[in-house]
Amino acid sequence: MDHFLYKDGVLHAEDVSVADIARNVGTPVYVYSAATLRRHYEVFDEALAGMDHLICFAMKANSNLAVIKLLGDMGAGVDVVSGGEYRRAVAAGIPGERIVFSGVGKTREEMRLALTGGIRQFNLESEPEMHALSEVATELGVTAPVTVRVNPDVDAKTHAKIATGKSENKFGIPIARAREVYAEIRDLPGLKVVGIDVHIGSQLTDLAPFRAAYEKVAALTHALREDGHEITRLDLGGGLGIPYERDNQAPPLPIEYGQVIRETVGDLGCEIEIEPGRLIAGNAGIMVSSVIYLKQGEGRDFLILDSAMNDLVRPSMYDAYHDIVPVQEPAPGVEQSPYDIVGPVCETGDTFAKARNLPSLAAGDLVAFRSAGAYGAVMASEYNSRPLIPEVLVDRDHFAVIRARPTFDEMLARDTIPEWL
Ligand code: LLP
Repeated sequence: MDHFLYKDGVLHAEDVSVADIARNVGTPVYVYSAATLRRHYEVFDEALAGMDHLICFAMKANSNLAVIKLLGDMGAGVDVVSGGEYRRAVAAGIPGERIVFSGVGKTREEMRLALTGGIRQFNLESEPEMHALSEVATELGVTAPVTVRVNPDVDAKTHAKIATGKSENKFGIPIARAREVYAEIRDLPGLKVVGIDVHIGSQLTDLAPFRAAYEKVAALTHALREDGHEITRLDLGGGLGIPYERDNQAPPLPIEYGQVIRETVGDLGCEIEIEPGRLIAGNAGIMVSSVIYLKQGEGRDFLILDSAMNDLVRPSMYDAYHDIVPVQEPAPGVEQSPYDIVGPVCETGDTFAKARNLPSLAAGDLVAFRSAGAYGAVMASEYNSRPLIPEVLVDRDHFAVIRARPTFDEMLARDTIPEWL
């Protein structure tokens, strides 16, 4: 459910006209709905009701300070994967005890940053990393709370680039080796085991892989407890998918996902952590863009927009589908025709959609890409020297620019020409 609906013939974000935002801020622009973000946090919170839990928003999906602050104010923690994300979490007011640190390549510098600033736990992914953290914590004279991310060798049945739980993926430690690795941690100074971590992939549309992975985690919890470890927390990762196509079958709901958690690990007396990113932010955002030209090609019409693959890379990177709708509501039953929808970047891959049916559009018209709130702005680049596009947050009847469009002077000022050139 989201809050992007037509009102009075114009697409609105909550009570604000998207056309007004475009007029004020210019296009392209990302627009987020506060009510939708809050609602998605709440559905997870309700899904885990009755179990001690913490929802750690995966900041990689959307790391704007305003978005993090909004979720943090509701009680959310965050899952960070870099020193940069850690700094953003702190800047948005997330206390250290609600920050978990994931990722296969945490540097000693990042470990130091989190250990001095405060951290709930590190999710460790390899033995060399365990040794590094042990050394850094010992140097600082502190104890680092840790889980080990286990790789359960489960097929998440999602796009190959975002599946992480198969043995051939770079993530985690094979679950078969987990007891051995936990025993090693016990002997290392500066580390304290607090639980187990697992994350099998993103945009999962079936609960079966989650169930399979969580059953393995439950069995491992028993085994590790037998070995004398205190397992008090289970970090079950993120990954629940969202509906991108309106007419397609919707993925399972958070409440059904919560039921899988209850059935598999609910009786272990552990605090449950989850790390959803996409489900919280994805359908809470749109990218609004203007038509620059309508170009008649060989047997097809191209709609050339002012946004491109550098602004929203998902279609070119994962062949992802994003619903694209006109900002002016089409009259009921109006005739539609197929367009190839492209950006101005000089690559054929800069194609958002092929033969997409839309009502007739002309230069200057506005369109909105739905489901763009997760892995949209955060994956943008300045390819072709195109400025990163601004982000706007709507809350009921008002909006604010939460990241401004950089000026070209700012962009140029980052480069230096050495004096010997
Ligand atoms: N936890 C960990 C350790 C992760 O690696 C991820 C996502 C998440 C949580 C959040 O997963 P989510 O709930 O958002 O599915 N750029 C890709 C998605 C990459 C996901 C990477 N890891 C895309 O645009 O589809």
